[in-house]
Amino acid sequence: MKRSWEEVTSMPSKMKRGGGRRRLTGKEAARILKRLLKTMFSLYPWQIPLALIVMFINSGAAVIGSLFTGQIVIGHYLSLALGHQSEITNPLLLALLPKQDFPEGLTVAILIMAGIYLVGIASAYFYQIMTSIIGQGTQKKIRDEVFMHMESLPLSYFDSRTHGDIMSIYTNDIDTLREMISRVMPMLINSLVTMAVVLIGMLLSSWVLALVVLGFGLIILLIVFYVTSQSAKFFIGQQRALGATDGYIEEMISGQKVIKVFNHEEAAKEGFDKLNDELCYYTTKAQRFSMILGPVVNNMSNLLYVVIGVVGAYGYANAWPTIGVGIIVSFFGMGRSFTMPIMQISNQINMLTMALAGAQRIFELMDATPETDEGYVTLVMAKEDESGRPIPSDSFTGKWAWKHPHTDGSGTDYVWMKGKVNLYDVDFGYRPDKLVLHDITLYAKPGQKVAFVGPTGAGKTTVTNLLNRFYDIADGKIRIDDINVNKIKKHDLRRTMAVVLQETNLFTATVKDNIRYGNPEATDEEVIQAAKLANAHNFIEMLPQGYDTMLDGAGAGLSQGQRQLISIARAACTNPPILILDEATSSIDSRTEKLVQQGMDAIMKGRTVFVIAHRLSTVKNSDVIMVLESGRIIERGSHDELIAAKGKYYQLYTGGKEDLA
Ligand SMILES: Nc1ncnc2c1ncn2[C@@H]1O[C@H](COP(=O)(O)OP(=O)(O)O)[C@@H](O)[C@H]1O
Ligand SMILES: [Mg+2]
Repeated sequence: MKRSWEEVTSMPSKMKRGGGRRRLTGKEAARILKRLLKTMFSLYPWQIPLALIVMFINSGAAVIGSLFTGQIVIGHYLSLALGHQSEITNPLLLALLPKQDFPEGLTVAILIMAGIYLVGIASAYFYQIMTSIIGQGTQKKIRDEVFMHMESLPLSYFDSRTHGDIMSIYTNDIDTLREMISRVMPMLINSLVTMAVVLIGMLLSSWVLALVVLGFGLIILLIVFYVTSQSAKFFIGQQRALGATDGYIEEMISGQKVIKVFNHEEAAKEGFDKLNDELCYYTTKAQRFSMILGPVVNNMSNLLYVVIGVVGAYGYANAWPTIGVGIIVSFFGMGRSFTMPIMQISNQINMLTMALAGAQRIFELMDATPETDEGYVTLVMAKEDESGRPIPSDSFTGKWAWKHPHTDGSGTDYVWMKGKVNLYDVDFGYRPDKLVLHDITLYAKPGQKVAFVGPTGAGKTTVTNLLNRFYDIADGKIRIDDINVNKIKKHDLRRTMAVVLQETNLFTATVKDNIRYGNPEATDEEVIQAAKLANAHNFIEMLPQGYDTMLDGAGAGLSQGQRQLISIARAACTNPPILILDEATSSIDSRTEKLVQQGMDAIMKGRTVFVIAHRLSTVKNSDVIMVLESGRIIERGSHDELIAAKGKYYQLYTGGKEDLA
């Protein structure tokens, strides 16, 4: 289903780049975040609140710890030791203050402090574990759902996107999302909680100094917002450029041979350079902004020490209420605890934007309309009743019937599955605005062989795509055994057909499993029988482990012809009444061609066959030959009739061309 070059180049670039990537607006971001949280809460309904509580304890411990050091150890005990008065006025700290006097009291205070820090360590440990469980679990769930949904999508979805771009959803986008859930989100929440707790601690200690820190924090925040608003578009651009680059690489890997043979290496490199430059541009810009931010904010919080020191000293000299050395010291700690989260948040905002952009891509795939299937006619195993009509059978009979329940509930019909195919006035276009097929009408009786010939792009493959319902027709009717295909469940419809294409798709599995791909219940004997029928048995026997030889996805180690023989055996193994052969022998070396041809002839027997072929001999003895041109059937008839008519077919034939397709 490869698109022509003109189609690819004329496609609006956003389609090539993975289907209408919208801009991430604030509203959109909120919607995505909400959806994400919903997914997470449905998976971890109590774990998430628990993690939040533990996080709260963690930040609380940090703040109380720093208050303790500054105010109880220095402000209270050190003051007492130096003969000053205790500076503590904070009611919370007064409650925590040990009852004992100086030497013993200090020991107890330090022990309490140790206890508080230990709680901090334990809670950090637990919430890290919990968030990583939640992050990984959500990632797995999303991966599952994306894959499941992807399998339900119609072919048209894949037509408009590069494979690499779709791959990039699994690799980049889902990974960024995991990063966000297990690292960024907890950090953000932790930061916010810490800021709130610190703010309360500061207000309880000295509102003047608290205001100083708050003002300072505000300035930092403004800087952060300015910088992140500048950089968000670069982060989104980076994610998009990654998808495009992945798509390109994937295409270049699968096209290696063509690239080499057409000496296209330089052009391929140039194309890559362009994408790579773009990626580099975005990542550099994005990184520059986020790299600047950290150090700047960090150094600004050093400046905060100075400001606190100056204001504190001034207040101390002027005997402002509640300001003492201990308070000033504890404000150094608290000021840092307050501005650090701002820096952390600022570092993560971009990650968040990026993850949300990724989530948008993920949800876009999940929301793509799946292949619809309103079919209700199914296939059942059947046996004959006294009058030869099919009735359902529980045991294996080897015969199949269509089970056709009447929609008005008046009963169920059973019809033998025979492989009769009729098309009436079928119109079709891959895009609604551009019809590819016009008024296609054809009849194939069970066991008949129908051949399509015509120039490339005439629509031969398209006709066969419609029989499978890979695409739905715009107008007209397609009937199998006199049942409208729209009424047949797709799964059952596709079971009646096997397809052998020019390009062979083998999967990473043994030869045996590749052959029984369409019929997983097939026994080893059935597999071997199918292979013998397809003429594949002999060469399979010669493989190192015979039928148990592992093949890889690309089918490396086998010749094109051998791969094709396995594909034919696979078709034979499903034993379908209808067979579609689309240029199955076109890319085969002449040594194997004969073998393949014999294999194909063998499995065509007794089936309704649609064959698209280059070779005249394959076409010649078909029951009927359809000559297609620009999506219309311009001639039809048997070989002899068409020759006698002296039309297009005659020209092709007498033009001395072997190639008809
Ligand atoms: N997946 C697709 N999306 C859009 N257009 C397609 C697709 N597949 C084929 N076409 C177009 O439909 C027309 C018929 O193609 P096809 O049936 O593959 O021709 P043939 O098999 O006769 O060579 C061509 O113009 C082709 O560009
Ligand atoms: Mg074709």
